[in-house]
Amino acid sequence: MRVYDLIEKKKHGKALEQQEINELIQAYTAGKIPDYQMSAFLMAVYFRGMTDKETFDLTGAMECSGDRISPDTFGPRSVDKHSTGGVGDKTTLIVAPIVAAAGGIVAKMSGRGLGHTGGTVDKLESFPGFRTSLSPDDFANQVQKHGIAVIGQSADLAPADKKLYALRDVTATVDSIPLIASSIMCKKLAAGTRSIVLDVKCGAGAFMQTPEAARELAQLMVRIGQAHHRHTAAIISNMDIPLGHAVGNILEVKEAIEVLRGKGPQDLREVCLQLATLMIALSLQKEQDEAATLARDILDSGHAYEKFCQWIAAQGGDVSFARDPEKFPKAAHSAALCAPCDGYMLSCNAGAIGNAATLLGAGRATKDAAIDHTAGIVLLKKPGDAVVKGETVAQLYTSQEELLSPAAIRIEEALTYTAERPLTQKLIYDILI
Ligand code: URA
Repeated sequence: MRVYDLIEKKKHGKALEQQEINELIQAYTAGKIPDYQMSAFLMAVYFRGMTDKETFDLTGAMECSGDRISPDTFGPRSVDKHSTGGVGDKTTLIVAPIVAAAGGIVAKMSGRGLGHTGGTVDKLESFPGFRTSLSPDDFANQVQKHGIAVIGQSADLAPADKKLYALRDVTATVDSIPLIASSIMCKKLAAGTRSIVLDVKCGAGAFMQTPEAARELAQLMVRIGQAHHRHTAAIISNMDIPLGHAVGNILEVKEAIEVLRGKGPQDLREVCLQLATLMIALSLQKEQDEAATLARDILDSGHAYEKFCQWIAAQGGDVSFARDPEKFPKAAHSAALCAPCDGYMLSCNAGAIGNAATLLGAGRATKDAAIDHTAGIVLLKKPGDAVVKGETVAQLYTSQEELLSPAAIRIEEALTYTAERPLTQKLIYDILI
């Protein structure tokens, strides 16, 4: 194989053979192809795209580039969920125990926060003692005993993707649908579950800004999963507005516990129930109606909450915080943001809110920076809600007082108001199964 020839072929829009893709990925992972040639190849893919067959092959090549868990390890009821990244997205904390309590096997590897979007691993680390890194044996034992374990992604999982993603990040080639789809799906395939449910976020706080682009990505990821013999389904959900009211690690954990205890925001509950329905339908081979009833009953009966407490304890977390969320530490500093007029909130830009929460300390400024688990924002009003001039619409939290004003300016810019009650936005645009 001459890399030059593969770049040339893709530059002219021709499809690569599976063997060519395999050799390219193996050689790049082994450090035998320089970044400048791989960058040229990625840019050719960006402009010329890939056929489905090429995308399936690229996903498979990246899946096989490092450690893999065999789909036989956790059996037919094993199921994973992936969100393409959102603001206020604490769904895994709610969905995973619902599905495990229903009899599904949730063996999940999750990420840390990236850019303005939060990560499940950071949220779970809000519990004192919670271990997000388990040995393969401990991971397997916990899954077998409790039907649920969520850990950070192992460094050896799909190393080709790790290298390629870092290169895409600095060569303006992230936003290519076949590259995004193969990057996400290679890690899901390598994680070894038989079923995969995807939550493709769409809007101002998401990678995909329009329902059309989100649908294209979701459909391609479902086809990749199916081509690799995994039951795969997806929802496309709204990320113009943050999900729920809380943005920031401890704040989100507390909100998730509220939902698990039968309260909490309706939008969060609805997205969680839809995701749980699909995960139960795929992993336990049930009709969607039956799966939906089961998911709701498990949540409303408190079984999901009990499973959540079991899960936190199994991974070394101090479960007394799940029983009494008031025990979580509170931010040292707080400020209220007030409505500038009477009327209704019209919009609440999720991307800008995510950036403001990051600024307050809830996310990382650099890859290895520490985060402030107490920091974040609680949105007391959301689009469609009536507001009275001077009423608090958002409460900001941080350990660093000097961050309150710059974050407040960003939040003010993220919120717009109108005199007339606005139309309700759709929460779930589509379900692909
Ligand atoms: N998340 C990933 O894992 N890969 C992408 O390319 C984009 C988002």
